[in-house]
Amino acid sequence: MGAKLLCLFLASALTAYYIYTPLPEDIEEPWKVMLVTAGFRAVGHLAEVADQLGLMHYMEALMLITSAEYVAPTSDENVTVMDTEFSNVAVRLYLPRKASDGLRRAVVYFHGGGWCVGQAGMKGYDYLTRQTSHRLNAVVVSVNYRLAPQHHFPVQFEDVYSVTKFFLQSSVLSQYGVDPDRVCVAGDSAGGNLAAAVAQQLLEDSEVKTKLKVQALIYPALQALDLNLPSYRQNENKPILPKLLMVKFWSEYFTSDLSLREAMASNRHVPLESSHLFQFVNWSNLLPEELKKDHVYTSPTYGSPELARKYPGFLDLRAAPLLASDAQLRGLPLTYLLTCEHDVLWDDGVMYARRLQAAGVPIVHDHAKDAFHGVMMFVLSPVNLAVGHRLLNRYIEWLNENL
Ligand SMILES: *[C@@H]1O[C@H](CO)[C@@H](O)[C@H](O)[C@H]1NC(C)=O
Ligand SMILES: *[C@@H]1O[C@H](CO)[C@@H](O)[C@H](O)[C@H]1NC(C)=O
Repeated sequence: MGAKLLCLFLASALTAYYIYTPLPEDIEEPWKVMLVTAGFRAVGHLAEVADQLGLMHYMEALMLITSAEYVAPTSDENVTVMDTEFSNVAVRLYLPRKASDGLRRAVVYFHGGGWCVGQAGMKGYDYLTRQTSHRLNAVVVSVNYRLAPQHHFPVQFEDVYSVTKFFLQSSVLSQYGVDPDRVCVAGDSAGGNLAAAVAQQLLEDSEVKTKLKVQALIYPALQALDLNLPSYRQNENKPILPKLLMVKFWSEYFTSDLSLREAMASNRHVPLESSHLFQFVNWSNLLPEELKKDHVYTSPTYGSPELARKYPGFLDLRAAPLLASDAQLRGLPLTYLLTCEHDVLWDDGVMYARRLQAAGVPIVHDHAKDAFHGVMMFVLSPVNLAVGHRLLNRYIEWLNENL
């Protein structure tokens, strides 16, 4: 009896220890956030074990969360939902049922998940894109681009680019009753990265006649050159995207070769011959004083040219939109950008905002002091966060006014 009680006590103490995460004071509903964090941490640990045992690749184990959250395409009284293909890439379409006086607006949406996991049919994404379609009376194309580790850069980019290009054809827009002057690309996290890259590439593509009205970037990842920015340092262990997971996502986008991951983890992956690119991610110039805090800028430590020759993707604009020159940024459409304070990617967003402003691109930058990465996905039970709803509503309302 005594032994059983002792075991129970130890088990509860261990569980409590596992779940308890010190959180910043401004995070609301801390117990819910702790449960989410513990859940993600547990899946991460299991994925690590499965990977070490050779049972499955780390990212394939994480993908089990995506599968658990999957919902089939289901129409409701307001929106018709269907899975189909555009240009041989899988997409989920949301078509409003409400009659429209004229042409509709459209959003081409790219989900997040570090280019490795996630899908348009995850509950959280289905909710977000369905709400967007219903409340804007807009056509939403949510893209199921191919993922790592089966596919590496540039496949993810090429998939979302070819869907966007296909959709922007006037014959396709008119088939869906879409106004060519009111189309936007949007995405969160890795999807925000893809949206920014697509918007840039469209400017250079003489085959595309339709111009985007808006790009909406929700806590996007925008560069893989410096993975030791102040926001990476101070948010190294925040929910739900610790620095090491972001490093895994970045390196896996380009290759499963662990030597890139190790080099990125110690921020020694960029070769000397690419040193000129650091001007575009130089936080010493690009961050306002209050974000630099007490962090000291040191010059980059350069890595082996061999890695960059094998995996040149991390130096490529299409993977790292912050590496665009000012001339390449000019002409980008009106931009909505959301950053979160407790996010390794905060500084990526701030630096992009700064560079867009300098290039004369109209931009609205919202910063959520009380939010962590990925928070807009937590808007359904069992983890329904008020801050997630607030940011999601703000994004949809902004689009409603500006698209
Ligand atoms: C359909 O739209 C109405 C009006 O906005 C809303 O009250 C209702 O909940 C919506 N239905 C679904 C299934 O979302
Ligand atoms: C970054 O900016 C600082 C301050 O302007 C400058 O001293 C430093 O040389 C720059 N570093 C790189 C690699 O561009």
